[in-house]
Amino acid sequence: MKELIATVKSNNLIAENIYEITLTLPESVGYIRGGQFLNLAVGDKVHLLKRPLGIVKVEENDVTVCYQLKGEGTHIISEKKVGDKLSVLLPLGNGFVIPENVKNVAVIGGGVGVFPLISVLREHAGKINFNSYIGFRNKNAVCLLDELEKSNFLTVVTDDGSVGKKGNAVSAYFEDKNKVKPDLIIACGPPIMLKVLKQKLIESGDKTPCLVSLEERMGCGIGACLVCVCKTTSGGNTRVCKDGPVFDINEVEL
Ligand SMILES: Cc1cc2nc3c(=O)[nH]c(=O)nc-3n(C[C@H](O)[C@H](O)[C@H](O)COP(=O)(O)OP(=O)(O)OC[C@H]3O[C@@H](n4cnc5c(N)ncnc54)[C@H](O)[C@@H]3O)c2cc1C
Ligand code: FES
Repeated sequence: MKELIATVKSNNLIAENIYEITLTLPESVGYIRGGQFLNLAVGDKVHLLKRPLGIVKVEENDVTVCYQLKGEGTHIISEKKVGDKLSVLLPLGNGFVIPENVKNVAVIGGGVGVFPLISVLREHAGKINFNSYIGFRNKNAVCLLDELEKSNFLTVVTDDGSVGKKGNAVSAYFEDKNKVKPDLIIACGPPIMLKVLKQKLIESGDKTPCLVSLEERMGCGIGACLVCVCKTTSGGNTRVCKDGPVFDINEVEL
């Protein structure tokens, strides 16, 4: 993990309320695993906490993340211009570790949860068979289809049916699961999506291993402040930033 001063290479609106920012780092940070994240400074003296964002792609010293406009921090970041400098801490968290024997993976993503999954598709494209089920709010929210099409099979659904079928990513997966028979499921999305996924796996007696990436409010991003703690199913606590954000779905309370 390194804290570096990055230079903004591009910062563009790619869908309604969604920006893609590419940062050029002054040096390499080595291998970044799909599903790891970075902490990006807002770049003023008021918003001191860096914002956690899933890494979408890394090309030499360029790192790209995508962010939805939420509160003040992301709005300020959206005003950054090419050449501006921002402090960044990376790589953080553990990412998706895909065991060697796994050849067939179902990818379930919703909303901003799609972004960290793209880095997994990029990392393993051509080596693993990916069946992806991706949910967006509506056609205006659809983005990064060229990246998502790295999947061997892609189903895009929207809440209102304006692109693909009307529905959500979890239901789309469950409609197909007997055909797909994955060795592993990986998922990232809003808490309700992950909760429903867990319920449906339990109810249907589906024992397919499943890794989920959690999104919790964060402070330090490096395991020190405990802001991001969530409950484990064994009655303990775990830090999403340092011990996660990727967990076995059976290990964490959702
Ligand atoms: C591991 C991880 C990866 C993420 N990846 C992405 C991504 O790829 N794209 C994306 O759009 N969003 C992502 N998020 C959510 C993103 O961090 C928040 O939307 C963002 O920090 C909001 O900042 P703000 O200043 O605009 O909002 P405010 O609400 O003003 O933020 C106030 C404070 O709360 C924190 N905060 C607010 N919402 C969240 C949240 N959902 N998760 C964590 N901290 C939060 C902020 O970091 C900040 O410190 C991720 C969150 C985590 C934990
Ligand atoms: S954000 Fe500080 S311990 Fe996780």
